[in-house]
Amino acid sequence: MVIFGGAGDLTRRKLIPAIYYLAEQKLLPDNFALLAVARDKNTDEGYRGLMREAMDKSDEIHRVDDCVWQWLCERTFYASGDFTRNDAYAAITQRLDEIESHSAKEDRNRLFYLAIPPSVFETTLKHLCESKLARRTHGYEERPWTRVVIEKPFGRDLQSARNLNRLVLDEFGEHQIYRIDHYLGKESVQNILVFRFANSIFEPLWNRNYISHVQITAAESVGIEGRGKYYEEAGVLRDMFQNHLLQLLTLAAMEPPSSFTADAVRDEKVKVLHSVRPLVQDGKPAVVRAQYTDGTVDGKSVPGYSKEPDVSPTSRTPTYAAMRISIDNWRWTGVPFYLRSGKRMERRVSQISVQFKSPPFLLFGQKAVEEMAPSLLTMRVQPDEGISLRFQVKTPGAMHELTPGLEITPVDMDFTYAEAFGNEAHPAYETLLLDCMIGDPTLFTRSDEVEMAWEIIDPVLDYWDKHPDTELPTYPAGSWGPKEADELLDGEHTRWQ
Ligand code: NDP
Ligand code: BG6
Repeated sequence: MVIFGGAGDLTRRKLIPAIYYLAEQKLLPDNFALLAVARDKNTDEGYRGLMREAMDKSDEIHRVDDCVWQWLCERTFYASGDFTRNDAYAAITQRLDEIESHSAKEDRNRLFYLAIPPSVFETTLKHLCESKLARRTHGYEERPWTRVVIEKPFGRDLQSARNLNRLVLDEFGEHQIYRIDHYLGKESVQNILVFRFANSIFEPLWNRNYISHVQITAAESVGIEGRGKYYEEAGVLRDMFQNHLLQLLTLAAMEPPSSFTADAVRDEKVKVLHSVRPLVQDGKPAVVRAQYTDGTVDGKSVPGYSKEPDVSPTSRTPTYAAMRISIDNWRWTGVPFYLRSGKRMERRVSQISVQFKSPPFLLFGQKAVEEMAPSLLTMRVQPDEGISLRFQVKTPGAMHELTPGLEITPVDMDFTYAEAFGNEAHPAYETLLLDCMIGDPTLFTRSDEVEMAWEIIDPVLDYWDKHPDTELPTYPAGSWGPKEADELLDGEHTRWQ
């Protein structure tokens, strides 16, 4: 495995811990080797030391077993080079030849991971092919295999995503390309399809006849964590919506696939994206955007976005967005999907809430029904991963002023992963790296899926570019976002969960 960007934040915080977990579970072959490449001059030994420090600081790792770490160290190497220059690839070739000389020819599988800024994806891919480090294979079965993992964001708009897809598919087969969206590797996200399609009780209800609306939230309490340069270019739509939120939408809304194979699942996801009504209607997008100002998060004062390092003091980059999505198909016509995501919100919470319609007959009196909270199914992606179902019960003994003898209270039936399976969560990158190595692309995004997601988001970005004076509301750090987001919601009884 060759990691381009071997000294970066993603490698330190996510990839090395994931590789460590795979080693700990003995899921890596004995001839596994890791070659990390970045610009800094360093030795193999020096790099191993840096990675050990990163492991000790990582939130993903609770303990490091010295024997496992030693096993991994013996297989970890470092090369330095600038990916825009030919000599970097000569150095990588030389290191790989040394490392691979101990393996049989058919075992010299190569996994290239681009953990680098998107601005160098293109040049790195071109060099990878020209230097013959990565070669095209003509089918999934060919050995040794070569696979390339490309980080998000895949492009910065529809056109650049198409160009990148063209470049990649000129050089490789789709079976060699793994476009990563780490949300798909989360246990609770993978569970969405199992929950929907392994339980027959929900399927009859999962449509416009019973569901009033769906809310998909990815709220973060963190800010931009020193990634000002990247975030100024990206903003919340490119950073979270084009990928993570639209992926959650497809999993919640898709039809049952004909089998649980990569293409069958991805075909159904793409169909959902095709059915999304354009977000810009009557010349305006149904999207609210906003930026955080000074505030308090977890009891600490934090500066507003425009005061973050590497951010322009007059920046108009949105750190929050909320949108109303209509899916024009047989199952979902008339059921709004509300999506929202923001940095520096009150709490970290990602979830899908499915709100059911109220009962058709007001058996318990108008007032009781108005006060009744509708039945709600919540799939908690993180934290406290699990699923809860809220429904109404009669409050024992209490009296209601309009319906004497009867008061109704919502209660929750709750499943949590921690209670059912213990606290040993498997980080998303562990699952995704293993899937790459065994050649299962189900949890990765296909070229058409990435392009369709850009087709949905692009017109909004374009509208904002062309209308720089469009209002940019603010919200204090540590709040639930701007009040303008409430106006997106239909119906007087609909509130953000
Ligand atoms: P960083 O900036 O922290 O790391 C980038 C790495 O790439 C560094 O090792 C840097 O080397 C190297 N690099 C950049 N340009 C060159 C070059 N021309 N030649 C050689 N090395 C180069 O970025 P991140 O790790 O945060 O992000 C990497 C990718 O992962 C991005 O696409 C990002 O969107 C994606 N991602 C990141 C997440 C995260 O949590 N960090 C989460 C999800 C996706 P040097 O140290 O020498 O500058
Ligand atoms: C990344 C975004 O893709 O996802 C970050 O670039 C964001 O800005 C992160 O913080 C959220 O991931 P998670 O797994 O912490 O929800």
